Amino acid sequence: MLKLEMHTVGLIALTTCLLIGLSEADEWEFPEDFKFGVATSAYQIEGGWDADGKSVSVWDRITHTTPNFVQDGSNGDIACDSYHKWEEDVTMLKDLGVHYYRFSLAWTRILSGGYTSTVNEAGVAYYNKLIDKLLENGIEPVVTLYHWDMPQKISTLGGVTNNVWVDIFTNYARTAFERFGDRVKTWITFNEPNIICHYFHSVLGSLQPDYPNGVIEYLCTYNLLKAHAETYHIYDREFRHKQEGKVGITLNFEWSEPASDSPEDVAAAERRRQFDFGLFANPIINFDFPKVVVDRVAERSKLEDFPRSRLPQFTFAEKLNVKGTYDFLGLNHYTTWLVSDDEEPSLDQSGFYIDTKVARQQDPAWEKTAVDDNRVVPWGLRKALNWIKTTYGNPDIFITECGHSDLTASLNDDRRTNFYKTYLNATLEAILEDGVKVKAFMAWSLMDNFEWNKGYLVKFGIYRVNFTDPERPRTIKDSGTYYKEVISTRRI
Ligand code: NOJ
Repeated sequence: MLKLEMHTVGLIALTTCLLIGLSEADEWEFPEDFKFGVATSAYQIEGGWDADGKSVSVWDRITHTTPNFVQDGSNGDIACDSYHKWEEDVTMLKDLGVHYYRFSLAWTRILSGGYTSTVNEAGVAYYNKLIDKLLENGIEPVVTLYHWDMPQKISTLGGVTNNVWVDIFTNYARTAFERFGDRVKTWITFNEPNIICHYFHSVLGSLQPDYPNGVIEYLCTYNLLKAHAETYHIYDREFRHKQEGKVGITLNFEWSEPASDSPEDVAAAERRRQFDFGLFANPIINFDFPKVVVDRVAERSKLEDFPRSRLPQFTFAEKLNVKGTYDFLGLNHYTTWLVSDDEEPSLDQSGFYIDTKVARQQDPAWEKTAVDDNRVVPWGLRKALNWIKTTYGNPDIFITECGHSDLTASLNDDRRTNFYKTYLNATLEAILEDGVKVKAFMAWSLMDNFEWNKGYLVKFGIYRVNFTDPERPRTIKDSGTYYKEVISTRRI
């Protein structure tokens, strides 16, 4: 009798365990409203650099005048030739089963004059065809207005640092809303402002190389935020009631983990997060630039003998105007750093990275990728998502880029597959266990493309593109097949 009872208890326990296990497994899937996508950008895939009335962008110019600026001496003149092969791109998207396709508009195709009202109808027609075809196939366009290919004419005027930049940019943004907003419901104003202001204005230094970078970088930050906010308000005032879309911004964020438990390193890691992400997110979501950044730039500016902080101050009215200008937050995430406090850098250098006063390194045990220092650290994504949740009151987050690079273009790209497996799992943990409101994941990238100053050497695609063939044939990689399965099962 006793024996039988024990047996029964055991059976009940086993069944319960199995049931719990089963239901947990059942729940370990992406929520119903979660959307999957892939991302690209105009200069990186389109080609057709001077087709049908398109004007010259800064990337056309720099690659044509300074070919060694790009590691393999290449350019985006033809790239993946999506200007001609867009239908094939849509077929690939359809086959993957994605809900979203994130691409960017080439400003130079739409307003060849950069800052004029004359619309280049051929450029508009190109995007109209693409958008219509996407919608016909049940794929929602997610459109970035500015993904780094500034009209050369605007750059010559000083680009983002020009006094009339807000007007210049919003003139373009309004044109895009007018022409495409009846069908495009998700807009991103800027892709990675951190790179726009702190990389392009310092490393490229193509604007005014003699001007102190540390001044230009923050002037760019300040003007870019004002243009973002004004674009949002224009959408609100003139378009939202009839178009009912969403407007956000995409910020890049490499996670900063303290290198040790020392209070100095913990503070340094937080400082670096505020410089990288808070500088843009805080004015938009909370209020004004983050205090730690304001204080630090003021301190360093004083040491550098500037009469006032190099970081411009928003007026109270401007702070109010920028606050709340987002319907979602776009996040591009690739990697993680171990951050420690640094000594005050010598005074012969100036700029954003100097201002942060941190030293960064990566654990050599972390898996490397083809991009230096883009090591694979999935837990960093989960931490970054949680930090955003707590620092900004749990906003809706769209992961607008996340991806893995190699040099081989091999179709058997196991490392990329594993990257997606682990980063998607980190995303799922953040959603299901931590309550972060991640609403979408967009893989970078749909296909191998022009990776800026690395040219075609570095591959991020889940489709391979053969760049030596004039037809630019595309072939799905194993990671693409894996991603397709995740999308259809909503499981990793
Ligand atoms: C971020 C940029 O938005 C994209 O253009 C670039 O190709 C990827 N990161 C990979 O480096």
